[in-house]
Amino acid sequence: MLTEERIVESLRGVFDPELGSDVVDLGMVREISIEGGTVTVGLALTIAECPMRSQIENDTARKVKALPGVDEVVVETRAMTKKQRAELMNKARRRVRENAEPTRVAPTTRAIAVGSGKGGVGKSSVSVNLALAISRLGYTVGLLDADIWGFSIPRMLGAEARIEADADTRLMRPIRIHGIEVVSTGLIVESEETALMWRGLMLSKALEQFLQQVAWSELDYLVIDMPPGTGDIQMALSRLLPQAEMVVVTTPPKNAQKVAVRVADMARRSAMPVVGVIENMSYFETPDGRCFELFGSGGGRELADSIGIPLIGRIPLDPALGRGADVGEPIVAADPDGPTAGVFAAAARRLVELVPPADAETCTGRIAKILDDLRLAPPPG
Ligand SMILES: Nc1ncnc2c1ncn2[C@@H]1O[C@H](COP(=O)(O)OP(=O)(O)O)[C@@H](O)[C@H]1O
Ligand SMILES: [Mg+2]
Repeated sequence: MLTEERIVESLRGVFDPELGSDVVDLGMVREISIEGGTVTVGLALTIAECPMRSQIENDTARKVKALPGVDEVVVETRAMTKKQRAELMNKARRRVRENAEPTRVAPTTRAIAVGSGKGGVGKSSVSVNLALAISRLGYTVGLLDADIWGFSIPRMLGAEARIEADADTRLMRPIRIHGIEVVSTGLIVESEETALMWRGLMLSKALEQFLQQVAWSELDYLVIDMPPGTGDIQMALSRLLPQAEMVVVTTPPKNAQKVAVRVADMARRSAMPVVGVIENMSYFETPDGRCFELFGSGGGRELADSIGIPLIGRIPLDPALGRGADVGEPIVAADPDGPTAGVFAAAARRLVELVPPADAETCTGRIAKILDDLRLAPPPG
C-alpha cells in the first residue's frame, strides 16, 4: 500500500550534500499528495536559485518512483521562508555538533551498489573496472566489497596489503590500490584477534562495520560489489546508506532476465532505485573487428526497457578481462586504451551523468549566502 509514511521513508534517502542530512530531517518536505498513481511532493529549498536544485529534484523523483504503485512523480519546489531557513540552519549546525553520522560515508558521496540476481554474471568484474573507470575520469572513488565471505575483489585488484586499524581513532584504514580506496573481508589481517572479531559476525553486521568503522575519505563515488542473491545485505545497505542506488548487471540471454527482474523488484521494495543496467559478456570481438554475440542478444536492452531505466553499457566477453582478474591486473588499469577499457569509460561517463557528483564549490557558496541572508556571522574556521 502506498502511504504518505512510505513516501517520507523513501525520501530519507535524498541528501542535501552540503547540509549533510536528508530532505526529511532538514524539513524540506512540505507536502505530499497521492492521487491514484501520481504522487506530488512539495519541497522547500534553502534558496530559490539553489545550485543543488535539479539534483535534489531528480533524486526525489527517482526515490519516489521506485516505490510500488507509483506511476508518476511531480516535484514542486519553492524557496523556504526566512523563518524556515533559520530553523534549518540551526538543525544543520546541531548535526555538525552532534556528529551523529550514521556512517563514515560522507553525505556528499554517491553510493552505487552493483547487483544482480545470481552469481557468475560478472558483478565483481564490473564493480572493479567501473570503479577504476570512474576514478580515471578524475573522481575520488572507493570500492566496498559487500560479498562478505565470497569476496573476490582483493584477488582481482592484486591487493596484498592488509587493512589496519588506526591506533588513535581505532578506525580501519582502507587500502589504496590503482588509485582507489578498497575495503574487503579478504583484506582483514589474519591475526588471532581479527579472526575472532570477524568469526560468527552476521553478514549485515560486517557490512555495518565497513560503513561505520572505516575511515573513508570524502569520496565522490563509493562502488559496492554486492553478493549474489537478494537477501539481507541489500536490505541492510538500504537501511544504513539510504542514498545508495543500484546498477544491475545482467547477461544477454533471456533466462537471465527473470533473476534480474527479481533484483529490480527487490530494489523497489528496499527503496533503492536502479539507475542503470549493464549487460556483461555481450559479444566477442575478433582482432579484425568482427563481432559475435555468443550468448544471444537483447537481454540487457529488454531488462532496461521493462523497468524503464537506461542501459549504460554492453561489456564484451574479453579473455584478457578474465585473465586480468586472475592475476590482479584489472583490464581498465592494465590496458587503459584498449577497447574493453573504452566501453567501461563510456559506461562510467553515462553513470556520472545520471548520478552527478556533488559540486563542492557551489556548495560552499550556498552556506555563505544563507548565513549572509540571515545576517549571522559564519562559524569560525
Ligand atoms: N566480460 C567478461 N569477459 C571475460 N570474462 C569475464 C567477463 N566478466 C566476467 N568474467 C569472468 O567470469 C567469472 C565470474 O565473474 P565475477 O565478476 O566473479 O562474477 P560475480 O561477481 O557476478 O560472481 C570470472 O572468472 C571473471 O573473470
Ligand atoms: Mg562477485
